[in-house]
Amino acid sequence: MTFEKNILCIGAGYVGAPTMAMIAAKCPRYKVQVVDIDREKIKAWNSDQLPIYEPGLDELVKKTRGRNLFLSAEIERGIQECDIIFVSVNTPTKGFGQGAGKAADLQFWERTARQILENSAGDKIIVEKSTLPVRTAEAMERILNGNPKGIHFDVISNPEFLAEGSAVKDLESPDRVLIGSRETPEGVKARKAIVEIYANWVDRDRIIESNVWSSELSKLTANAFLAQRISSINSISALCEKTEADIDEIASAVGMDSRVGRHFLKASVGFGGSCFKKDILNLVYICEGYGLIEVAQYWEWVIRINEWQERRFILNMLANLFNTMAGKKIAILGFAFKADTGDTRESAAIYVTRGLIEEHAQIVISDPKALDNARKDLHDVVDRVAFEPDPYKAAEGAHALAILTEWGLYKELDYKRIFKSMVHPAFIFDGRNILDHKRLFDMGFNVFPIGKTPLKHF
Ligand code: UDX
Ligand code: UDX
Repeated sequence: MTFEKNILCIGAGYVGAPTMAMIAAKCPRYKVQVVDIDREKIKAWNSDQLPIYEPGLDELVKKTRGRNLFLSAEIERGIQECDIIFVSVNTPTKGFGQGAGKAADLQFWERTARQILENSAGDKIIVEKSTLPVRTAEAMERILNGNPKGIHFDVISNPEFLAEGSAVKDLESPDRVLIGSRETPEGVKARKAIVEIYANWVDRDRIIESNVWSSELSKLTANAFLAQRISSINSISALCEKTEADIDEIASAVGMDSRVGRHFLKASVGFGGSCFKKDILNLVYICEGYGLIEVAQYWEWVIRINEWQERRFILNMLANLFNTMAGKKIAILGFAFKADTGDTRESAAIYVTRGLIEEHAQIVISDPKALDNARKDLHDVVDRVAFEPDPYKAAEGAHALAILTEWGLYKELDYKRIFKSMVHPAFIFDGRNILDHKRLFDMGFNVFPIGKTPLKHF
C-alpha cells in the first residue's frame, strides 16, 4: 500500500509515541514511524507491556501498530524515508557548565538535527515537538540549511500541551493545536502541511497558526502560568493554616469568577512532573540572558514557593509527630507526581521521602503504578525504604500516613481497618486534600490537611 504522507518522529518518550499513535489512528492514509536510540524502549513499545502507562494508550497502540504505526531503532532509515520529521527528544535542564541548573540542555536536539542533515537527500519539514527555548528554531535552521547539498529545511514549532494521565484524551480533543513557522512563502507552506495532519480530526478553529517565536514561547508561558496558579494557591494554603480559613473553599470562591477560572487551583504538597520546573528554569535563564532580571526573579519565585511547600509538609509532619520521626514507621501512599501515571519525574514524593529519611524515619512506599520508578529514584537509599504495593500492608504498624498522590483508590480504602492496624495516636497527612477529614477524625485519626485547620484529638 502506498501512503499519502510519510511521517517520522524521533524520540519515543511520553510525548512522541502517544502523539504519533494518535496521528496514526486518525490518519490511516499516513505511514507513521517512531524511532528512538533506546532499543529496550522500542522493544517495549512493540510488546504487550508498553514502557509507559496512560489510560487508553494500550488500545490505541494495538489498533495502529503494524498497520500504519511502526516503532523501531532504525533512525537513519526513518530519516531517509520521511519528509516530515517531528523531533521529540528530551531537553532536560543542563547539569554542567554555563547555565547549569537552569538552561535547557540542547545537545540531543542538535545531535538529532545533524543526524537528520547527514541522512537527507531532499527537502524536509522539521517539527519541533520538544519544548525548547525561544529562538531555537533559528539555530536549527542555521545548522540544517548551511549544508552544501542544496537541501532546504523548514523548521516548524508545534509544541505539545498534553498532560500525563490524560494524554490520549488530550490528543483526541485538544484545547488547541499550535503551529508556528516563519512567515515566508516556504514557511507558510510547510506550516499548512502540518495543519493538514491535525485537521484530520481537530476542528479547524482550534488549530492556531502563528509565527515560530510565538509558538516556541507560548509553550513555556503556558507551563509557567499553570505552575504559577499552583504556587499561588499553595502560598495561600499556608495562610489558611494560620487563620482557620479553608483553602478548598477559597479556591472554589475565587475560581467561580470566570475571569480566574476553576482549574489548577488545587492546593497540594507541591507540583511535580517533567515540565513545570524545567520549563520555568529555562524561562528564567532566557530572561536573565536578555537582562530582564525582574521578570526572571518573578518566575523563579514560582519554583521557590513550590520547594517551600514541599519543605513545609515535612516540617509539619515533624512538628506534629512530637518533633521526632526517628525509628517511626511512615507509610507514603502515592509516589507518582500525579494520579493515573507511573511517572515520578520531579514528584514531590521524592523530596518528601528524602526529607523523612534524613529524620531517620522508617519509610514504606505504596503506589499502584510507580513503584518501579520509585525504586530507581531512591536507588542510593534503597536500604532505608520498603516498597509495598498493598496500601493496607504498608500502613500496618505505621505511626503516620502521608498521602502524596491523589489516586482515586486512596479515597476508597477501609480506613477503620487501617486505623486498627496502626500505632496510636495515628496521624494522616493529606498532601492532596482528597480524604473525608471529618470522618477520619471521628474514627480516631489526627488529620492534617493542606490549607485547613488540623483535626486533632489532643
Ligand atoms: C518531551 C519533550 O521532548 C520535552 O522537551 C518536553 O519538555 C516534554 O516532553 P518526553 O517525551 O517526556 O519529553 O521525554 P522522554 O520520555 O524522556 O522521551 C525522549 C525520548 O527521546 C527518549 O525515549 C530518548 O531515548 C529519545 N532520544 C533522546 C533519542 O531518540 N535520541 C536522542 O538523541 C536523545
Ligand atoms: C503539564 C501541562 O499541564 C501540560 O499542558 C504540558 O504539556 C506538560 O506539563 P503534566 O506535567 O503532565 O502536564 O501534568 P499536570 O496535570 O499539569 O500536573 C503537574 C503537577 O501539578 C502535578 O504534580 C499535579 O499533581 C500538580 N497540580 C496540578 C496541583 O498540585 N494542583 C492543581 O490544581 C493541578
